[in-house]
Amino acid sequence: KGDNLRYDGKVAIVTGAGGGLGRAYALLLSSLGASVVVNDLGGSAAGSGNDQRAADVVVEEIRRAGGKAVANYDSVEEGEKVVQTAIQAFGRVDILVNNAGILRDKSFLRMTDTDWDLVQRVHLRGTYKVTRAAWPYFVKQKYGRIVNTSSAVGLYGNFGQANYSAAKAGILALSNTLALEGRKNNIVVNTIAPNAGTRMTATIMPPEMVEALKPDYVAPLVAFLVHEACPDTGKVFEVGSGWVANVRWQRSGGYGFPVDRPLLPEDIAAKWQEIVDFDNGRATYPTNTQESFQGLYENYLRQQQKQQQAAPASSSSSGN
Ligand code: NAI
Repeated sequence: KGDNLRYDGKVAIVTGAGGGLGRAYALLLSSLGASVVVNDLGGSAAGSGNDQRAADVVVEEIRRAGGKAVANYDSVEEGEKVVQTAIQAFGRVDILVNNAGILRDKSFLRMTDTDWDLVQRVHLRGTYKVTRAAWPYFVKQKYGRIVNTSSAVGLYGNFGQANYSAAKAGILALSNTLALEGRKNNIVVNTIAPNAGTRMTATIMPPEMVEALKPDYVAPLVAFLVHEACPDTGKVFEVGSGWVANVRWQRSGGYGFPVDRPLLPEDIAAKWQEIVDFDNGRATYPTNTQESFQGLYENYLRQQQKQQQAAPASSSSSGN
């Protein structure tokens, strides 16, 4: 165990903090010294209605425990208002946990535009809007800590969750770009794919599992990721029931075809086993677009060399 991590003087916004995971984040951060904006619209799990009590109850809980908190009842789609609450109440913002979310699960065949749009609006657009409003403060003070909330469903897909998985994958992609853009201003952006027993999952998990998967076992990772001491940015973590792991892309070594002759579908078919082979010692773990481009570029260089060997006398002047 190292020194206790503290958040004194820091101002945190936690969206969707009126229940479930967000509530656990707000309680933990405030108990460790942060001033917290408890944002929650207080609607149903499917995104209908609103109720100020959701946020109020958590604010009360924090204050009773001696912490500092204010409520914000706006939808995350109105990110400016959420951030303004932090500025008005505490004069700054240092930490943003984008957590608010809804579910409208349907098989793809039965999915309506409303199911699709509402889920994109709360998850992806909501994450965008609150982050967009906080970003100029982070840039100006050269400090910011963001945790965005994806899902295993966003990483791997899931039956009946086309809308939700697309939004959650979008949130991961947004985080990865913000991590790059934030680097020079000490803005750290990471993503979690949590598992917890909340009202969102109570319908699909047996009751004893809901109990075992307490949000309290997710919150410490989120708190670490928003601390000054967090050494990493642009990473995604699966977390739940006290287990924390980092996920990354793995890419097969692939197969490089010659480009001095036509490439046909049957050429692909003939090399399919090599294309999808991760176990031949040539797989890599690209972490950025430069590394991504490397595979293609090496094939290009190989082909160039082959062509130059075939025609060594030709002029190398390329003109303009
Ligand atoms: P929850 O339903 O208990 O909490 C979500 C909160 O967000 C609610 O209090 C709700 O009122 C609020 N909210 C909904 N729409 C809002 C809006 N437009 N503006 C402001 N607040 C709004 O759900 P839970 O489980 O705590 O989920 C939190 C996050 O974690 C969500 O983004 C969810 O997708 C994600 N997640 C949860 C998993 C789990 O196992 N519980 C699994 C994977 C992801």
